[in-house]
Amino acid sequence: MVSKKLWALRGDVALARKIPVAMTIAGVDSGGGAGIAADLKTFAALGVHGTVAVTSVTAQNTYEVRAVHDLPPEMVSKQIEAVADDLGIDAAKTGMLSNSAIIEEVAKTVKRYEFLLVVDPVMVAKSGAPLLRPEAIKSLKEILIPIATVVTPNRMEAERLTGVKIKSIDDAKIAAKKIVEDLGARSAVVKGGHLEGAYAVDVLYVDGDFRVFAVPRIREGCTHGTGCSFSAAIAAELAKGKSIEKAVEVAKRFVTLAIEYGSKIGRGHCPVNPSAWVDIPAERYNTLKNVEEALRLLLRYGEDIAPFVPEVQMNVVMALPARYARSLDDVAGVKGRIVRYGNTMKPAGEVDFGVSRHLARAVLKAMEFDPEVRAALNVRYDERIVEAAKKLGMVVSFYDRSEEPEEVKRREGATIPWGIEIAIKRVGSVPDLVFHRGDWGKEPMINIFARNAVEAVEKLLKIIKFMKSERGV
Ligand SMILES: Nc1ncnc2c1ncn2[C@@H]1O[C@H](COP(=O)(O)OP(=O)(O)OP(=O)(O)O)[C@@H](O)[C@H]1O
Ligand SMILES: [Mg+2]
Repeated sequence: MVSKKLWALRGDVALARKIPVAMTIAGVDSGGGAGIAADLKTFAALGVHGTVAVTSVTAQNTYEVRAVHDLPPEMVSKQIEAVADDLGIDAAKTGMLSNSAIIEEVAKTVKRYEFLLVVDPVMVAKSGAPLLRPEAIKSLKEILIPIATVVTPNRMEAERLTGVKIKSIDDAKIAAKKIVEDLGARSAVVKGGHLEGAYAVDVLYVDGDFRVFAVPRIREGCTHGTGCSFSAAIAAELAKGKSIEKAVEVAKRFVTLAIEYGSKIGRGHCPVNPSAWVDIPAERYNTLKNVEEALRLLLRYGEDIAPFVPEVQMNVVMALPARYARSLDDVAGVKGRIVRYGNTMKPAGEVDFGVSRHLARAVLKAMEFDPEVRAALNVRYDERIVEAAKKLGMVVSFYDRSEEPEEVKRREGATIPWGIEIAIKRVGSVPDLVFHRGDWGKEPMINIFARNAVEAVEKLLKIIKFMKSERGV
């Protein structure tokens, strides 16, 4: 028997640690790009517990919807009730609702529990397939939108709901205001994914005011599931107790990242990547830690390595995983490089991103050929190092800086990628070691490549140990 007091205590503890609960009331996209899949990934990334009421099962991929099977409306409300009666729902979003019977059932159930509701008035899939029966638009307008906290139509949906032809941000404002004032929603965001222009602009109307959210339009991104992730992100933030304005602001940043770092798969519109929101910070942490560990290892063997520190000093760098590594800012290294110090070495600054140019460019080039090879270090050119690496069975390659074409010389930062590409193509894979013998005013150099920074240092230590043993020291 648990005493009443203990129960109360447990209740308090549970309350103090309450994990927000969000729900998605939507369809299943078998391709995992949109619908429930996108919503759950979004909920997880934003730190809320995600729950589900499936409305419809679709056989779908990135380019077409092959079949749709709607669930019986009572099955939809039973799912909502089961969750609301136990875990409680702080906020929910609706996605594909398919028909008016489901819309009526959802509206009835939501009213009973009174949680915050984001209505994404999904009508057509990104591939063009209809996801809502035309006659259901009336139910959407008359019974669901009036109980919505936020409505998130895209351009076409906003036009259908309001009759306003949307060609500009001003038109979007008129439509957003109408959804609130004429249809009775608490607020509305008219999304600009389908508008023209250099910016993707969303217009929020809440409490009599407009707020415009604009980001540069991403041209090479992935857009399957943008609307789903956006509305799910708003629901997640509302579940945490954020204001409508703040929730939309977070959702905009969230979806932008998910589009930019989308999963480039499938033949149609590739799926957004809602995990980018947590993945990128996590990978940045892992990468920094690895370079720090590599630096510690280098310093531990400082006296052995110091003789190989070049005139331009040394560095050890590591890039984010290939899907997130785009520029020099995505490569971590030692700020100011690792310098010779007496008979040992010391770092000039701390480990950070965007502090290396030469080695970082070498790594970004290597990753184009082998995404697993994310790290490199440099040491002074010494023929004994090259020979030792060969004897150890490492793959060794080189390039000749005196063969660098004029037009490569003229382009800022082009020399190293040019050379590394030659060295890679020479052996048909990313080598363990690439050297060049220098040119006028250019110091000869060795780069050691590896999957991570610690491994790069380990390769160097292995070479040095072998050299020592050969000399019989
Ligand atoms: N190319 C892009 N670059 C930047 N942001 C974009 C791009 N395309 C869409 N967005 C943003 O994504 C969010 C969703 O907008 P969109 O208009 O694509 O919704 P949707 O048509 O409902 O999407 P879905 O087809 O997934 O249902 C908005 O915040 C919009 O501004
Ligand atoms: Mg949509």
